[in-house]
Amino acid sequence: GWLGMAYAWLPFSLHLSKGGVKLSCTNGHLMCAGCFIHLLADARLKEEQATCPNCRCEISKSLCCRNLAVEKAVSELPSECGFCMRQFPRSLLERHQKEECQDRVTQCRYKRIGCPWQGPYHELTVHEAECTHPTKTGNELMEILDEMDQTHKKEMQLYNSIFSLLSFEKIGYTEVQFRPYRTDDFITRLYYETPRFTVLNQTWVLKARVNDSERNPNLSCKRTLSFQLILKSKISSPMECSFLLLKGPYDDVKINPVIYHFIFTNENNETEYVPLPIIDSVECNKLLAAKNINLRLFIFQIQK
Ligand SMILES: *[C@@H]1O[C@H](CO)[C@@H](O)[C@H](O)[C@H]1NC(C)=O
Ligand SMILES: *[C@@H]1O[C@H](CO)[C@@H](O)[C@H](O)[C@H]1NC(C)=O
Ligand SMILES: *[C@@H]1O[C@H](CO)[C@@H](O)[C@H](O)[C@H]1NC(C)=O
Ligand SMILES: *[C@@H]1O[C@H](CO)[C@@H](O)[C@H](O)[C@H]1NC(C)=O
Ligand SMILES: [Zn+2]
Ligand SMILES: [Zn+2]
Repeated sequence: GWLGMAYAWLPFSLHLSKGGVKLSCTNGHLMCAGCFIHLLADARLKEEQATCPNCRCEISKSLCCRNLAVEKAVSELPSECGFCMRQFPRSLLERHQKEECQDRVTQCRYKRIGCPWQGPYHELTVHEAECTHPTKTGNELMEILDEMDQTHKKEMQLYNSIFSLLSFEKIGYTEVQFRPYRTDDFITRLYYETPRFTVLNQTWVLKARVNDSERNPNLSCKRTLSFQLILKSKISSPMECSFLLLKGPYDDVKINPVIYHFIFTNENNETEYVPLPIIDSVECNKLLAAKNINLRLFIFQIQK
């Protein structure tokens, strides 16, 4: 039946057995969505047409189609619990890993008063019976809670900074579209640039580049992007700004908010390359595989 066929076609057997969306090339070769996106991203970096690793036919978003039959067949294959390594039908696996597995990672119920213990579920009862946190004195707990407050405060600071920036008098934002280009070096490199845009009555450009953290090309899935903001117009006095790139309305990019600062002058009119804080390299590959990168840029002008 379908199971046999699914196995017979496997070009990416490891990834295929993982469930999720399956695509096939025009000749029917299968790949998982992650591998597909990775192939498109690689092709973009090398400025080549992406091809099926099996038959070398062209692949692209419009040339590949989802294979629902295989998705269903794979969803019925047994798969392994990540904690106890036992096999379960995929449909039961999620519940097993969340609620039933004796080896699933759990946290002490006194976590809220500072117990850092984490361990397999089958050790939880013993730990909780011995846990010293419920017998701590009020003063000891106060100290622990203070520490936890500090950590929490740091996390909140970022959001508070964004909220306070939002109360500035001069705020501008716009949708920006990074488009891919190649350098004209001997070995060309991919970079991205936006068309000129106007924010806060000044003309700007953003550039981005791919910045592989791995030198070894066969491990090149750890990808990051960095970007710089360039002021293109002449200004009469220095312009101190905070700026922030976030997901725009037309793309589903997972991006961590990071606020950068820079004082623009006519001589010092571009920022260093700073990390574009994409959640992980899977997201980064998704961006590279897409034709353009659409984001929203905020500029907050700091007035003294
Ligand atoms: C915007 O800039 C132009 C020239 O660069 C200037 O003439 C105009 O007054 C500026 N507008 C505002 C609102 O600052
Ligand atoms: C990557 O390539 C190097 C040298 O070509 C090799 O030694 C290494 O095992 C490869 N690593 C993987 C994960 O394929
Ligand atoms: C940006 O600054 C450099 C010198 O640092 C200058 O050569 C260039 O003309 C400036 N660009 C603009 C658009 O003002
Ligand atoms: C990658 O970007 C970071 C800043 O985002 C920079 O510090 C680093 O030097 C860059 N690495 C390469 C290889 O370009
Ligand atoms: Zn299990
Ligand atoms: Zn505990």
